[in-house]
Amino acid sequence: MPIRRQLAPATIDASHLKSGAIEPGYTKVLARLLAAHALAEKLTASGYERALATVENQSLHHAISKNLAEERKHALLIYRLLEELGISEMAADRLLLTACKGPSFEAPQFFATRASGEIDLLMASLSLDMTGLIMISINYRESSYAPHCRAAEIILEEEADHDVFGMAGLAEAAKRFGPDRINSALREWVPRAVNFFGPPDSGFTYECIRLGLKSRDNQEVAELFLEVLERRLTQLGLVTPQLTDSYPRALAARSVN
Ligand SMILES: [Fe+2]
Ligand SMILES: [Fe+2]
Repeated sequence: MPIRRQLAPATIDASHLKSGAIEPGYTKVLARLLAAHALAEKLTASGYERALATVENQSLHHAISKNLAEERKHALLIYRLLEELGISEMAADRLLLTACKGPSFEAPQFFATRASGEIDLLMASLSLDMTGLIMISINYRESSYAPHCRAAEIILEEEADHDVFGMAGLAEAAKRFGPDRINSALREWVPRAVNFFGPPDSGFTYECIRLGLKSRDNQEVAELFLEVLERRLTQLGLVTPQLTDSYPRALAARSVN
């Protein structure tokens, strides 16, 4: 049975939470959701910072610096929302000590700590900017928490730009490096990108949807991402890897080379 959303978009703000007009569980679920959003933005910023040091193609550096500045701004915007709830950046990150080691954080963690060179940069953009754009426009733009809606509007405009950067770069790279190298990178990164949406049907997402903090289940949004991705990759003459069905998604046996 579909979950019934109890709170309409942009109807709650920090003063409602402080006055106790909303059930206490709301603040707890909201804090965790914002903490995950903030950490993903922060790790993405670290990834772009790392790319400045590892990507040799100087013609990309201007765009990398621009994206880095914007990702830092996105992280700051969301950590500020947490501050309003009385949660410091350190306390917010601590809420995710276990989650940030799991499959849903593998893409941002890899970008921040291990990605290296131009192809990894483009794969990270596909795994974080394209996914972020879909996630934020479907879920957070309609959040019942008005400050998160407003932050989502600001972030979306810039994420749309990052997505264009990533896709244009991918088209260029497919010509320059050849499809085989890009297809092999896709086999490494696409499972990470899809897992970034998180597990299907979790109790946490159920609560998010009930409280109007998200609109759709993670799996539904992940499938939408895969559909759009496949269309784009086919246009570039690239191959979308086949994945296993259950979370965490991995390469299906027939996609492994
Ligand atoms: Fe961002
Ligand atoms: Fe981005």
